[in-house]
Amino acid sequence: MAAGKGTRMKSKLPKVLHPLAGRALVHHVLATAAEVGARHAVLITGHGAEQVEAACGPDSGVGAGLQLQCVRQEPQLGTGHAVQQAMPVLPDDGIVVVLSGDVPLTQVQTLRELIALSEGDKLALLTLQLDNPMGYGRIVRDGGGDNAPVRAIVEQKDASAEQLAIREIYSGIMAVPARLLKTWLARLDNNNAQKEYYLTDIVRFAVADGVPVLAHRITDAVQVAGVNSPVQLAELERACQLRQANRLMEQGVRIADPARFDLRGDLQCGQDVAIDVNCIFEGKVVLGDDVRIGANCVIANAQIAAGAVIHPFTHIDGEKQGVKVGEGALIGPFARLRPGADLGPQVHIGNFVEVKNSTLARGAKANHLAYLGDATVGERVNYGAGSITANYDGAFKHRTTIEADVHVGSNCVLIAPVTIGAGGTIGGGSTISKDTAPETLSVARGKQVSIPGWKRPRK
Ligand code: UD1
Ligand code: CA
Repeated sequence: MAAGKGTRMKSKLPKVLHPLAGRALVHHVLATAAEVGARHAVLITGHGAEQVEAACGPDSGVGAGLQLQCVRQEPQLGTGHAVQQAMPVLPDDGIVVVLSGDVPLTQVQTLRELIALSEGDKLALLTLQLDNPMGYGRIVRDGGGDNAPVRAIVEQKDASAEQLAIREIYSGIMAVPARLLKTWLARLDNNNAQKEYYLTDIVRFAVADGVPVLAHRITDAVQVAGVNSPVQLAELERACQLRQANRLMEQGVRIADPARFDLRGDLQCGQDVAIDVNCIFEGKVVLGDDVRIGANCVIANAQIAAGAVIHPFTHIDGEKQGVKVGEGALIGPFARLRPGADLGPQVHIGNFVEVKNSTLARGAKANHLAYLGDATVGERVNYGAGSITANYDGAFKHRTTIEADVHVGSNCVLIAPVTIGAGGTIGGGSTISKDTAPETLSVARGKQVSIPGWKRPRK
């Protein structure tokens, strides 16, 4: 169900498209459905339907292996009405699991247990005890006993004072045989406080039909927590991040403070990886054995090989092309690696150095205040402070080739396309616009003039 409005988000973006750990809320739910092995998923859309459907389309990568179909609910007349829209496209022989697009952290194992409980012929409800059940549907049991048979779900607005005292609530998640669900949905009405078609009324029909209603009561509230407001979104974000951090720490990754760790994608780590505080990982990131990440780094779409050290405040974003950092390389502090930066083993990139679409071979160094764009840099090159490749002529990008063992002095401009021959030296302050031969010193700057006894003007 993803048709609701999400008024309290106060956002232009449909609620289920707000990101949690870098993915839309509804993507989490669809991924869970795929993992549970759903043979068919139906997404019920209404508010912002076009946007939601587009975001879950075939090239969204959502719920890979999931046969996904969208149906529209217009207008939105309640959860029962929402599920009614899906019925025509569901086969009779399955078990329907009802999920909400704004409840992202339900675990696969929990759903498997719920499905097992329904056994193909019973109604299984996911429930939990809350200290403050305000707003939720209450689980009404025979005689009120904790494990007595379930008689009904009563919505907050329809509940008697006695029912409001019940602390066991319905999570919004159920597993129900499609065949039975269809007959019950046909009997729903909206004679209630909200004039809505309540899905929860099917519990009464099940009881009337002699179909067992079973509650699977869990204790982990995060699994059924919904997002209705920015505050709740932030709370679930932390819960989700903690889950991810714990999973990595169980694999041996040393995270300095799991409360200051953010993963918005997929992070694969080798052995003895250490991550300091306040780092953000996005997209697909691979860290080899013994990699160390300093504090306050943002790293997206990158592969960092064994033994590399990323010093604090480094920003790496490979976007689609990716970034590669070689074994034992030292990056940062305050370095910036952009798409297509491909650094060999033992490369050093220091503070305020930007690298884009450039290959640096083993042992090359650019330690201070420099730009390398569209460059091919050979082994052991030393690239001086303040030097840049002028790769853009205002219309086209051109390449710079710096062959092995070149020494580029400080504050040089290499105007591409240009090649600096192997073993050559570029004198500091040079502007190089022509290729240079190997093993030569090239200097291209105004000659120094010193005038003896020259006097400064005086007032
Ligand atoms: C529902 C349950 C309540 C339960 C609670 C758990 C009903 C009648 N009540 O409450 O017992 O404790 O969930 O969170 O089912 N939606 C639609 N179309 C609609 C209405 C809702 O798609 O016409 C979607 C919403 O976008 C949301 C989900 O259904 O994803 C739940 O709707 P919401 O209004 O939050 O649930 P309640 O009715 O408050
Ligand atoms: Ca409602």
